[in-house]
Amino acid sequence: MTGKVYLVGAGPGDPELLTLKALKLLRSADVVLHDDLISADILAFIPSSTLVHNVGKRFGQKRISQTEIHALMVQNALLGLQVVRLKSGDPLIFGRAGEEMEALRQAGIEFEIVPGVTSAFGAAANAQIPLSHRHVSSAVVLVTGHHAGAGEFADWPAKIPTDATVVVYMPGYDYRSTAQQLLRAGVADTTPCAIVSQATLPNEQVHVTTVEDLHRSPRLPSPTLLVVGEVVRLAKPSALQFGWQRDFVSNSSVSSVPQERA
Ligand SMILES: C[S@@+](CC[C@H](N)C(=O)[O-])C[C@H]1O[C@@H](n2cnc3c(N)ncnc32)[C@H](O)[C@@H]1O
Repeated sequence: MTGKVYLVGAGPGDPELLTLKALKLLRSADVVLHDDLISADILAFIPSSTLVHNVGKRFGQKRISQTEIHALMVQNALLGLQVVRLKSGDPLIFGRAGEEMEALRQAGIEFEIVPGVTSAFGAAANAQIPLSHRHVSSAVVLVTGHHAGAGEFADWPAKIPTDATVVVYMPGYDYRSTAQQLLRAGVADTTPCAIVSQATLPNEQVHVTTVEDLHRSPRLPSPTLLVVGEVVRLAKPSALQFGWQRDFVSNSSVSSVPQERA
């Protein structure tokens, strides 16, 4: 009998953000193929008898190609095994799940997607940034800063609505280019932004700045993502601890948003 492949989201890192379904599958899988960004605390849920492969490809040092990952999933399923393909965050957000689903369909392998908490949501929750806010932000745009390779599509929307919150995954450290890209898409240079490093993990850090000052930001440890939008003014006070940041918060139009009606 052919096995089954589960494309499972592991969330942003905090093991408590794993879904019950993901935990159950990690405990019962025959094989786990995981990305680099999966935290040790999450890998610790996998029984020692399970075959575990790190199929991550970080920093351009390709240990294993995408085609080889497809082959591993298919071969193990054809052996009748239950395979968990464990991805950081949610598998359907910048996680190549589309390509993996296509490969599994072509091979006639049954599969299921188990959603996870995407890192933007983990980062926003911990920094207390409401990604949408009915008086400030009516849209959330997820983009990738990763430079496109051949055949990849990485153009940002030509025009980002002024009241949108933008989350840049894989922003890298070329903050000047990222700021230019945001400006080209119509984002104002005074718009606040937050770099969130290692969201939901014990060493999480948040650096708040504006699009015009983004290039002065420190290189925080990877993985990072960038949240851009007026809603960043509502971040938790400890993320806004520096003097000038306090000024920028108190000058905020957000501080005068109408109160919710009881
Ligand atoms: C290949 S993408 C995978 C995204 C993932 N599928 C998700 O839904 O979060 C990897 C990028 O996700 C972001 N990321 C993942 N985990 C993160 C974390 N704990 N803190 C900050 N950013 C994270 C970073 O931008 C990283 O470069």
